[in-house]
Amino acid sequence: MEPKSSKKKISTNLDEKVAKPKKGIVPTTTGDNIEAPNAGWSFGGNVAKTFDDHVSKSVPLYQEGHDLICKASDYFLSDNSVVCDLGTSTGELLLKLAKRHDKRQNLRLIGLDREQGMIDEAKRKCKSDPRIQFECVEIVEAELEKTDFIVAYYMMQFIRPAFRQDVFNRIYNSLQWGGAFLFFEKVRGPDARFQDIISGLYTDYKLEKGYSSEEIIAKSRSLKGVLEPFSTEGNYDLLKRAGFKDIMTIMKYICFEGILAIK
Ligand SMILES: C[S@@+](CC[C@H](N)C(=O)[O-])C[C@H]1O[C@@H](n2cnc3c(N)ncnc32)[C@H](O)[C@@H]1O
Repeated sequence: MEPKSSKKKISTNLDEKVAKPKKGIVPTTTGDNIEAPNAGWSFGGNVAKTFDDHVSKSVPLYQEGHDLICKASDYFLSDNSVVCDLGTSTGELLLKLAKRHDKRQNLRLIGLDREQGMIDEAKRKCKSDPRIQFECVEIVEAELEKTDFIVAYYMMQFIRPAFRQDVFNRIYNSLQWGGAFLFFEKVRGPDARFQDIISGLYTDYKLEKGYSSEEIIAKSRSLKGVLEPFSTEGNYDLLKRAGFKDIMTIMKYICFEGILAIK
């Protein structure tokens, strides 16, 4: 018979609270009242209601990224410019861009998203500014009009890899000469060691934000086959194949990167 003491649980760090895993229960609660099954993350249903809260907590430097896009837009917009926001969600970024350029009465700001719940919420938020329009559309099938500034804030990563190059090509074609595409993406590391490090650092970030280990696992399981990040080099290659030559990383924090490409 084993001595009783050998069955005692041992913690490697007595200062840390160790969450007890619940045996046999597969977590589907991703935090902020959002439920999502394995490989089944969706922005539909009621997600629009809690989305702003969820995204600003789970994406590092979310507000700072918006702020940088607004400031960068000064270099590309003139009075009659058209701005396009791909994967606009609740229109938060377009609202900020409209406020920054409030003197440009002929500016048109167009937000596209495939989720009707997001578009309804965006229209409600931005109804007092007639320069802002929204359309519920699948980006893979959308016709993009001539624009000076296209933004995609954590959206391209959700386009299936098979269609992604085509979307980059259409973005390039719809930009005016001298116009810019500014997009932010979750990115993979350049090799397995760096990928391990950045995944670990991002998990630490989410724990610090108050997400439980079950919620973190549930979110990551739900994103299988839905969010497909490319590496920095992979994204640069997509841009180059589309025709862009002037490309620069404008912000980077762990595995979150903002890339500015000028036509
Ligand atoms: C992470 S959110 C974007 C956040 C938003 N840009 C912001 O600034 O807060 C991704 C958005 O892209 C939309 N989306 C994803 N894939 C799409 C597609 N193929 N066509 C249209 N919208 C898409 C989703 O519905 C969702 O609202």
